[in-house]
Amino acid sequence: MLDIVILAAGKGTRMQSALPKVLHPIAAKPLVSHVIDTASHLSSKKINIIVGHGAKNVKEALNNNENLNFIEQTEQLGTGHAVQQALPYLADNTVVLILYGDVPLIKPSTLEKLTALVDESSLGLLTVSLQNPSGYGRIVRDEDSLVTAIVEQKDATTEQLDITEVNTGIMAVHAKHLKSWLPALSNNNAQSEYYLTDIIAMAKAHGVSVNTEQPESEWEVLGVNDRRQQAQLERIYQSRLAEKLMTEGATLIDPARFDCRGIIDVGHDVTIDVNCIFKGDVFIGDNVSIGANCVIENTRIASGSIIKDHCILENTIIGEKCTVGPFARLRPGTVLSAQAKIGNFVETKKALIGQGSKVNHLSYVGDAILGEDVNIGAGTITCNYDGVNKHQTEIGNNVFVGSNTCLVAPVQLNDGCTVGAGSTITKVVEKDTLALSRAIQKSHASWTRPEKIKK
Ligand code: UD1
Ligand code: CA
Repeated sequence: MLDIVILAAGKGTRMQSALPKVLHPIAAKPLVSHVIDTASHLSSKKINIIVGHGAKNVKEALNNNENLNFIEQTEQLGTGHAVQQALPYLADNTVVLILYGDVPLIKPSTLEKLTALVDESSLGLLTVSLQNPSGYGRIVRDEDSLVTAIVEQKDATTEQLDITEVNTGIMAVHAKHLKSWLPALSNNNAQSEYYLTDIIAMAKAHGVSVNTEQPESEWEVLGVNDRRQQAQLERIYQSRLAEKLMTEGATLIDPARFDCRGIIDVGHDVTIDVNCIFKGDVFIGDNVSIGANCVIENTRIASGSIIKDHCILENTIIGEKCTVGPFARLRPGTVLSAQAKIGNFVETKKALIGQGSKVNHLSYVGDAILGEDVNIGAGTITCNYDGVNKHQTEIGNNVFVGSNTCLVAPVQLNDGCTVGAGSTITKVVEKDTLALSRAIQKSHASWTRPEKIKK
């Protein structure tokens, strides 16, 4: 079984940030968490993670993951020195996969191919050919094309600088070799660092062959060193996800303006307009259409529903053939039964809306249960909060609430009742009755409009 070491002790100076680099996010998830998730696909053993700069923050951010073994590298003396810190935790007879905490998009399938190349007599190195190899360690091969060494940019000769095949940093080596080679590293080089890459020449000297593997796509091995690269990887991540959704039967009006910061599952014939953001766990059923500029978090939307432009849905469940928006805000605990309608400038919270019921305009419905075929007029407010406690509003089936009504909770409106517009309801409304609480209208025939005072 594979042992995995993730290097995450570096400072990340170019991020210009108080946050340790590996905690900067791609799709709202720390860089290093992407690497940890990939690593967990490959091995069920504890994952070794080398921390240094911002070690406390990194540990805290990842603390709920019991599958990690944090190893502190107090001084960052180089990649070889970093891996050396993990030696006491590695079994003797295992293959060790070395990953970088700031290279988040590496695919498990590529790593499986790499580790398959490794045994006691050979190691595996992930390389890539780049048009511009500047900054990377160069892969030196002999006349038989066999890898003999890696030279760092700063130590390379002019001829070596022309080599376009570079070290991605990701490699897999038998633990036995790491244990004998790493303590023998020297820092006699341009950066006075203990280079992990020097073990390649040691392998050659000990008759261990170096096998190379390449990623399917270059983006798999791109690292994040600054915010520009972070933004670039975010787009790559999002466009891959967009491709996947389109393969599964969703129409994305513009896949370049799609963002998912979590997990999204779509049915067939789903349409998603531009600039929507999906967070947490989102499920979208068949024939659902989502308008532009919606933010949808931890929500299930059943088939045939329409979410119009500019809606925010957070921890909600939307039944079949519902209509929501435009400009609706559905807060946690909102559950719409089939064919319910929530219109513009409506806010809901902890609200169960029965089948076919409508809250079409400018209302607040919170801590409420509505039956079937209820109509809530424009500007209706459930007054759920008395300044100390929250109270429940219960509305039966087939209730009609006129516009601009205050329902002062706790209060019940029973089946079939009607509330006249402009009422403030503080007591139970009995079944099939009309409740009205508004001042009696008076006319003042002698009244005249004020006139503008002349200066
Ligand atoms: C390293 C490789 C280079 C390769 C490049 C790919 C070495 C000597 N060089 O160079 O061949 O082309 O990566 O990106 O290995 N780290 C620690 N502790 C340390 C030093 C580094 O944990 O003491 C971690 C960093 O946080 C980072 C990774 O190791 O995640 C790579 O370190 P970095 O300094 O970026 O290496 P490069 O000089 O880019
Ligand atoms: Ca680097």
